[in-house]
Amino acid sequence: MPNTNLTAAMRAKNDEFFTQYHDIEKEMNAYLEYDADVFRGKTILLPCDDPEWSNFTKYFAQNFEALGLKKLISTSYADASKNYQGNYQPTLFEKRDPKFDKRKTTVKGKIFTLTADENRDGKIDVEDLKWRYLEGDGDFRSKEVKALRDEADIVITNPPFSLFTEFLQWIVEVGKKFLIIGNMNAITYKEVFPLIRNNKMWMGNGFHAGNAYFSTPFAEEYGEGVYNPQTGLVKFRNVCWFTNIDHGRRHNPLPLMTMGENRKFNKKLSGNAYETYDNYDAIEVPFTDAIPSDYDGVMGVPISFLDKHSPEQFEIVGTLDSNDPNNTCRTRVYTSEECREAYQARFGKPGTYDLNASGVINGVKVFKRVLIRRKAKENGNDS
Ligand SMILES: C[S@@+](CC[C@H](N)C(=O)[O-])C[C@H]1O[C@@H](n2cnc3c(N)ncnc32)[C@H](O)[C@@H]1O
Repeated sequence: MPNTNLTAAMRAKNDEFFTQYHDIEKEMNAYLEYDADVFRGKTILLPCDDPEWSNFTKYFAQNFEALGLKKLISTSYADASKNYQGNYQPTLFEKRDPKFDKRKTTVKGKIFTLTADENRDGKIDVEDLKWRYLEGDGDFRSKEVKALRDEADIVITNPPFSLFTEFLQWIVEVGKKFLIIGNMNAITYKEVFPLIRNNKMWMGNGFHAGNAYFSTPFAEEYGEGVYNPQTGLVKFRNVCWFTNIDHGRRHNPLPLMTMGENRKFNKKLSGNAYETYDNYDAIEVPFTDAIPSDYDGVMGVPISFLDKHSPEQFEIVGTLDSNDPNNTCRTRVYTSEECREAYQARFGKPGTYDLNASGVINGVKVFKRVLIRRKAKENGNDS
């Protein structure tokens, strides 16, 4: 397969993941527990959806009255524009509707809106959704969907993975509240990390036991442990919710032991734990549960720490990543010559060991790390 086809196939595969109802419900409940009126009087936009069978549309339509929504808008992307070309069939719902247009069904996006008890059955729910074809294909970057974004108070969806950073910027540039699903690795992207560091975005409440389940047309291509033939779903552990809406869990400080207690009782600790990096003024902490409660300097911790981060307990300083060249904790930048020598020394053959792309201890690169510092006790941090 030529490379461009391969890239398109990868994109298609990465973009088509459909979120489960109870995962949406569980996540929304976390915000509602923190603030029962979080969605009250709000217009919610669900872009990149497939409203006829999306669980996002179903959840918000079914709970329209309980949440006190002002308006729900949900849009879909035209099948002909998708990277993935499945065996498209319009739904019976669409086909039976007088508005059905076979010239439009594959090339136009659709918009579903909900504001009132259209069928006068005494409640506002999924039965009251109105729909029409969009002028265009429903691309979130189109003028028409941008106008819907501007109208909305909150944007909620699982966007196509191949366009994650673009999608995030699309929301952030207009300062909207959002709740979106993404891959945890996105955290260190140069467009994403500054939002996390500056407390403009954080991780949501999270999937049950860290497992995110999705349906996808590619399910059977995944191996054992990811694809479950019984449920037809795939399971990922590196997927999370990103948001700028507050929830209770992020204000629960992590219970921590001192460095001495960790050395004594934390069985996982060995090797270079708590050593200072060769190239950063910070110490290496290889596990989140090994973060010492009594160290006031900067620490490099696993990215998964962010799922446990409480802004009252720690400040996020940077990453050990070449994407973060202005990092003030950096004490050394390696020359190309040094990177070549390090490769030869480590692997016994010519090559380049990109030491600047990581924290380094005794000439060896460590895993991806986020740099954090404990907030001062005077700020109410007792950990
Ligand atoms: C990860 S799926 C999620 C679908 C649904 N929101 C859910 O969670 O079940 C992302 C959807 O966005 C669609 N999509 C891809 N590119 C898009 C674009 N440029 N604009 C709008 N939607 C797009 C994909 O075809 C796919 O249906």
